[in-house]
Amino acid sequence: MGHPMVLNFFFFLEFFLCLTAISALSVAKPGCQETCGNFSVPYPFGIGNTNCYRDLTFELICNDTYYNPPKLFWATNLEVVNISLLGQIGTLGYVSNYCYNSQGYVTSGNNPSFNLNDNTFSFSDTENKFTAIGCDTLAYLFAFNGENFTSGCAMISTNIEELINGSCTGIGCCQTSIPKGFRYFEIAISSYYNHTKVYDFNPCSSAFVVDYNWYNFSTSDLLNFTYNLDNYGYARAPVVLDWAINNWPMETDISCEEAMNNQTSYACGNNSVCGVSKNGLGYSCNCSQGYQGNPYLQDGCQGT
Ligand SMILES: *[C@@H]1O[C@H](CO)[C@@H](O)[C@H](O)[C@H]1NC(C)=O
Ligand SMILES: *[C@@H]1O[C@H](CO)[C@@H](O)[C@H](O)[C@H]1NC(C)=O
Ligand SMILES: *[C@@H]1O[C@H](CO)[C@@H](O)[C@H](O)[C@H]1NC(C)=O
Ligand SMILES: *[C@@H]1O[C@H](CO)[C@@H](O)[C@H](O)[C@H]1NC(C)=O
Ligand SMILES: *[C@@H]1O[C@H](CO)[C@@H](O)[C@H](O)[C@H]1NC(C)=O
Ligand SMILES: *[C@@H]1O[C@H](CO)[C@@H](O)[C@H](O)[C@H]1NC(C)=O
Ligand SMILES: *[C@@H]1O[C@H](CO)[C@@H](O)[C@H](O)[C@H]1NC(C)=O
Ligand SMILES: *[C@@H]1O[C@H](CO)[C@@H](O)[C@H](O)[C@H]1NC(C)=O
Ligand SMILES: *[C@@H]1O[C@H](CO)[C@@H](O)[C@H](O)[C@H]1NC(C)=O
Ligand SMILES: *[C@@H]1O[C@H](CO)[C@@H](O)[C@H](O)[C@H]1NC(C)=O
Ligand SMILES: *[C@@H]1O[C@H](CO)[C@@H](O)[C@H](O)[C@H]1NC(C)=O
Repeated sequence: MGHPMVLNFFFFLEFFLCLTAISALSVAKPGCQETCGNFSVPYPFGIGNTNCYRDLTFELICNDTYYNPPKLFWATNLEVVNISLLGQIGTLGYVSNYCYNSQGYVTSGNNPSFNLNDNTFSFSDTENKFTAIGCDTLAYLFAFNGENFTSGCAMISTNIEELINGSCTGIGCCQTSIPKGFRYFEIAISSYYNHTKVYDFNPCSSAFVVDYNWYNFSTSDLLNFTYNLDNYGYARAPVVLDWAINNWPMETDISCEEAMNNQTSYACGNNSVCGVSKNGLGYSCNCSQGYQGNPYLQDGCQGT
């Protein structure tokens, strides 16, 4: 039988992989904390010492004193759920939620604003959608990226029979696209009849920008949207941000050509190529063909 042979072969292969893995799989800078719980933290993101991240916009905080398993945070209080070296980071963003009582008075409500305070991050237009939930609901998105942009949803439906789990059809759940490259938004919610006609099955309206791959409409969300409640009792929804390398803290965007002129600040390591970033701000790095690893480390890209 070939079985033992196969095992031996893999043992052999693993032995070699382990030797190269020391450099190839190391995603953080040498001497820097590489994981937070089971999360791996790749450079240019980093934890702790200032030389562990590229600049302050990439600083993450691993909170292992309060949370078990530990949680990773970006920009003081945005929880990180995902980091990709292909230029995206998943965070838990803010949700606007308004609840009414049977008399039509607001019992709780909030209009969050979300500011990505630099030219390195923007809300991903390809992964997120502005989403509103409710059957007596007006929800607005006010965004700014040099220009004002306003979008929204308006919904009235009194027939619970029309609602379908899993699909956002415009009845009880409405989704719209967001524009590329914007870095600031506010959400506001109002209502036509203060939910008095739908109170039995829909006392609350909510609206948020969300990773649309994550969100599936459920009629139970009409009762109250309570995903990922934070320490203050506010719901959070996953939102994907595009990130790029830029000439922080300057507010002007830098191209690959300009970046390469200064090898001290150029972010792409050996055996990597510079390219246009996902959000059109600054640039991004990628390992050259035939190489794999973290292109943001000096020797992060290793031959395969
Ligand atoms: C981390 O571990 C938790 C369970 O402790 C698991 O649910 C989660 O999927 C893991 N995350 C990653 C990124 O591996
Ligand atoms: C961890 O989270 C708790 C609760 O939010 C907070 O009080 C504490 O300061 C955080 N620790 C760090 C190191 O950020
Ligand atoms: C993490 O990112 C992957 C790929 O972008 C995506 O499929 C997945 O849903 C994300 N996970 C979370 C928890 O957001
Ligand atoms: C955007 O809207 C705000 C508030 O309505 C207004 O103060 C500001 O002048 C507008 N900016 C531009 C560039 O139109
Ligand atoms: C809804 O509530 C607002 C403020 O609570 C009130 O001014 C308005 O008259 C109410 N509208 C209806 C149709 O009940
Ligand atoms: C939505 O459905 C997808 C696919 O079935 C699943 O992976 C995802 O976890 C669901 N999201 C939520 C919030 O339950
Ligand atoms: C949708 O799913 C929720 C939660 O699983 C369930 O309570 C509800 O009855 C479902 N609604 C429909 C219309 O199937
Ligand atoms: C809805 O959930 C929020 C927590 O996000 C809570 O503060 C509020 O009291 C709830 N309202 C209703 C009507 O269930
Ligand atoms: C190159 O980048 C470094 C680090 O950001 C900076 O200190 C230096 O002034 C830059 N050199 C030039 C010629 O711009
Ligand atoms: C990076 O390069 C690999 C091949 O080397 C390619 O498959 C991948 O799509 C590239 N990614 C980006 C974001 O350009
Ligand atoms: C590229 O690799 C060579 C050989 O390993 C090394 O001498 C050089 O410093 C590296 N250059 C950069 C920009 O990392």
